[in-house]
Order: sequence, then structure tokens, then C-alpha cells
Amino acid sequence: MGGTSGVKDVLAQVVKDVLALYSSGAEEPASDEICSAPEVPPTYLRCLGTSVSHPLWNFKSLEKFLESVIEEHMAAREKPASGDDLYSRVDYRRFVAWPKRIRREAPFLMEVLEKAPTRSVIDLGCGTGEHCRFLAGKGFAAVGLDRSESMLAKAQEQPLPPNLRFVLAELQQVREAVKTQFGAAISLGNTLVHLTRRQDLEEAFASLVQVLEPRGLILFQILNYERIFEGNIRHLPLSFRQHEDGEIVFLRLMEPLEDGWVRFCPTTLKYDPQADPPVEVVRSRVVELRGWRREDLIPLLENAGFSILSVHGDLIGGLYQPRTSHDLVLVAQNMKDRE
Ligand SMILES: C[S@@+](CC[C@H](N)C(=O)[O-])C[C@H]1O[C@@H](n2cnc3c(N)ncnc32)[C@H](O)[C@@H]1O
Repeated sequence: MGGTSGVKDVLAQVVKDVLALYSSGAEEPASDEICSAPEVPPTYLRCLGTSVSHPLWNFKSLEKFLESVIEEHMAAREKPASGDDLYSRVDYRRFVAWPKRIRREAPFLMEVLEKAPTRSVIDLGCGTGEHCRFLAGKGFAAVGLDRSESMLAKAQEQPLPPNLRFVLAELQQVREAVKTQFGAAISLGNTLVHLTRRQDLEEAFASLVQVLEPRGLILFQILNYERIFEGNIRHLPLSFRQHEDGEIVFLRLMEPLEDGWVRFCPTTLKYDPQADPPVEVVRSRVVELRGWRREDLIPLLENAGFSILSVHGDLIGGLYQPRTSHDLVLVAQNMKDRE
């Protein structure tokens, strides 16, 4: 039997993966859809068991080694995100109960997209790419565009079908980033509020109109900020997730500010009623976004050459009710002819 070095490599990888799994599970959710607690795959546990029972380990050396791996992992987590990639430390895929979300949204998405002039679609701010994969599976030529390298790395972890690709770019530069035109574009999950200046939106819509075919469709979904501002809504619903030593609670406080700005304060709490104190703050941060409303977006879309086809209050096609709808969903059509 060889020494411990091979075993160390395996063990280090297992420990890092398990830590990553748990630390990603302790991040705040970016949507209301939360998947269940991340599970440690049984193969890891088996592998960990085999590794630590290696005859050349003694308890002290194992303890030291594990401490060093954990320290390294924690130090890496403390490093600032690269550039302005808000999502580089967030495992977005794990936050969202994707199969459930796609099942819920698919009928309305398909109803809209089937009316597009061709079966080709670009997803603006595609994140980890689940919508694109779903649409590629339905036979659309699909492109996912996002400015976050980490999101796109996740999106491309699984092999891509030939009718799906991903592009790293800013939404405002979509025309430069893709050479083809599309029958439709979608931008879901509150992406548009990351464009915080009116000028960013104007640039994005002007660029977008050029990558859509004449009569091509665009579908945007963001939170309904009319409800948030008028109702002075200061939090999104609490979410709970089971964790091995208690419960993780996601608290999403927000402050509606002047001029449509919203200060979000996503916070992760560990909750264990048996502990003292029972609630511990795992992570808390602040991010300022622009809560665009219907009356902000519609004129800008029209100026860029779009005509508004319909306004909805959710992604199942419900009517938009300014005071009660959770979302603002806009469906618009490119009225410009080919230049
Ligand atoms: C909240 S996530 C939404 C992801 C996905 N569309 C969904 O429905 O769950 C927002 C995404 O938009 C991307 N994003 C934000 N601003 C962007 C910009 N200016 N250009 C391109 N992508 C952007 C982020 O990197 C992130 O992946």
C-alpha cells in the first residue's frame, strides 16, 4: 500500500467539495424558489470514510490536515468577487428549485415564444442557463448571454446540445456580442434592475432591437416595484431550508429609496431553537438596484422601436394588478423593419 499523499489529494478534494456544498447552501436565495437542503452525495461520504481509515493516518495528522484545508477554503471565500461579478460567490443553481420553476413557467413562456417569427431565442442575463437548456430541448436555437463568468461556467458544466451556446457580454452590448438575429428574447428573474441608469436601459433596448427579427418578441420579468414602492414593502417572504445542525432562514429586507432605487439587504440566518442564542447571522450584505416600473420601461421600449403587446403580473400569464401582483411581465414586439 502506498503512502498518504494520494489519499491526501482525495481527502482534500472531498473536504473542499463538501465545504463548498454546505457553504453554497448557506448563501441567500436570489429568488422565491428555494431548493431543498443540499445533500452530501453518498459517494463522498463513502470516499471520506475510506480515506480517513487509511492505516497511515493518525488522529493528530488528520486533524491538522483537515484544519489546513478548511482554512484555505475559508480564505478563498473571503476573497472579493472578481470585478463587479455579484454572482461569483453565489451558487445560483442551488438557490432555485429549477425543475419546479421551469414546470410552472413553461406553459406561458411557450405560449409567447410560439408566436415568434422563428424558433430562435436569446436569454439576456441567463444566469446558470436553465431556461436556455429548456428551450433548446424544445427545439429552439438558444443563446444565453450573461456578464457573469461564474454563472456561465455553471451553465456550461454539462455538455451543450448543438442548438445551445453561451456568450459572455453585457446586455447593453448584445448586438456586438452576437452575430445572428433571433425570433425572440427573454430576460427573466429580475435581471433588468441590475441596469441602474436610464441610459443603460436605452442602450440595451437600442442594441436589442437590432438583434431581433422584424416582429420578433421580447419578454421581460422583474419584481413589481409599483407594489413595493406604493405599499412600502420592506421585505420579501421568508424562506427556510433544513440544515444538518439547525435551519437556515433567508431574510431579505429592502428599503425603497428616492428615485426608484431599492436597497436590498439579503441576510442568511442560522436558526436553532435549542441553541443560545437561537439565531446567528451567517452572512449579510447590501446591494442597491433600480426598481424600474411599468411607466419607466414602456416609453423606453417604445422609443427603441417596440410595441407593447401585453402586461402581466406573473409568469403564468396572470393579469397585472399594480397593488398586488408579485411581478411585472412585459411582452413587446419589434416594429422595425429590416435595415
Ligand atoms: C437574478 S439573476 C437571473 C438569472 C435568470 N435569468 C433567472 O431567471 O433566474 C440576474 C442575472 O443577470 C446578470 N446580469 C446582470 N446585469 C447584467 C448585464 N448588464 N449584462 C448581462 N448580464 C447581466 C447577472 O450576472 C445574473 O446572472
